[in-house]
Amino acid sequence: SDPGLVERAAAAKAALGDRVFVLGHHYQRDEVIQFADVTGDSFKLAREAAARPDAEFIVFCGVHFMAESADILTTEAQRVVLPDLAAGCSMADMAVLEQVEQCWDVLSDLGIADDVVPVTYMNSSADIKGFVGRNGGVVCTSSNAKRALDWAYAKGEKVLFLPDQHLGRNTAVLEMGYSLDDCVLYDPHKPNGGLTDQQLRDAKMILWRGHCSVHGRFTLENVLAMREQVPGVNILVHPECRHEVVTAADYVGSTEYIIKKLEAAEPGSAWAVGTELNLVRRLAAAHPDKQVMFLEKTVCYCSTMNRIDLPHLVWALEELVAGRVPNQITVDPDTAHHARVALDQMLALP
Ligand code: 13P
Ligand code: SF4
Repeated sequence: SDPGLVERAAAAKAALGDRVFVLGHHYQRDEVIQFADVTGDSFKLAREAAARPDAEFIVFCGVHFMAESADILTTEAQRVVLPDLAAGCSMADMAVLEQVEQCWDVLSDLGIADDVVPVTYMNSSADIKGFVGRNGGVVCTSSNAKRALDWAYAKGEKVLFLPDQHLGRNTAVLEMGYSLDDCVLYDPHKPNGGLTDQQLRDAKMILWRGHCSVHGRFTLENVLAMREQVPGVNILVHPECRHEVVTAADYVGSTEYIIKKLEAAEPGSAWAVGTELNLVRRLAAAHPDKQVMFLEKTVCYCSTMNRIDLPHLVWALEELVAGRVPNQITVDPDTAHHARVALDQMLALP
């Protein structure tokens, strides 16, 4: 990266000292991650944000829903900054509050809403987390989805899982023993979600029709081709991948899990990894004694994660030095209150 910008970022960070804490998600660019005080998956970063009450500014190098969660989990006085406001998440955008409320009305009209516990993936707007908190549910991430579902099924008969159909299905079927027939796919663009009343009554898992555009690109063909080309290869994928990909893989887990799995791998072993490319490239560089490959052939970055680049980070830090707070992310108090209930419930999972 541009040496001038590297120097400026370092100087601005030094000038701010302990007043600023920079969080970096694993999918961030190298040029940005070098300035992160802590790197992590979305669960770890939420905990880290909550654990830094002394930092006046949290600069979140990640996407919008993560910065919102950080704002909810930090104190009133702390400011959360997202270096580029265009860093959203297409999956989070697939669940809009009015749609989810409509879905809840459908379930209420059927008389089954009381049996349903809403669970939302961290990758959702604060509005959706607030809805879930108001209705007795919980937030989960890819590293605690099973524990969140255990909790939800102890509380109610059915789960409405938002917004990632793949994480919901993969966890219910591969980790909880439910069958594919226990799951239905609710399409917010169709009346009644595109389902019959009976399907909704019978379902154990009502999956929202959302997905990650990055992880959705890995296919079963990618897995089969990799196994043919590299005999003995270990296939390691994120649970946002499609069900048939996760089923055909050897290991599945969150980004933190993927990192730990490669750290523990034998020298000389071969790994094909199905997750975002910035992370896979970094892992390949960190483990020259292992063969670490990308599961797909084409380039597969998360375009919104990549919006945060060094120029944006430098701009945000220099603004803070100048006494201005750029791109502050705030959640209104009522939404934040209810979203916090659902987030705290996640942080308290056994
Ligand atoms: P984790 O960080 O929880 O593994 O989720 C991956 C992701 O898609 C973040 O946007
Ligand atoms: Fe959203 Fe997928 Fe990008 Fe994560 S990787 S921020 S889920 S689009």
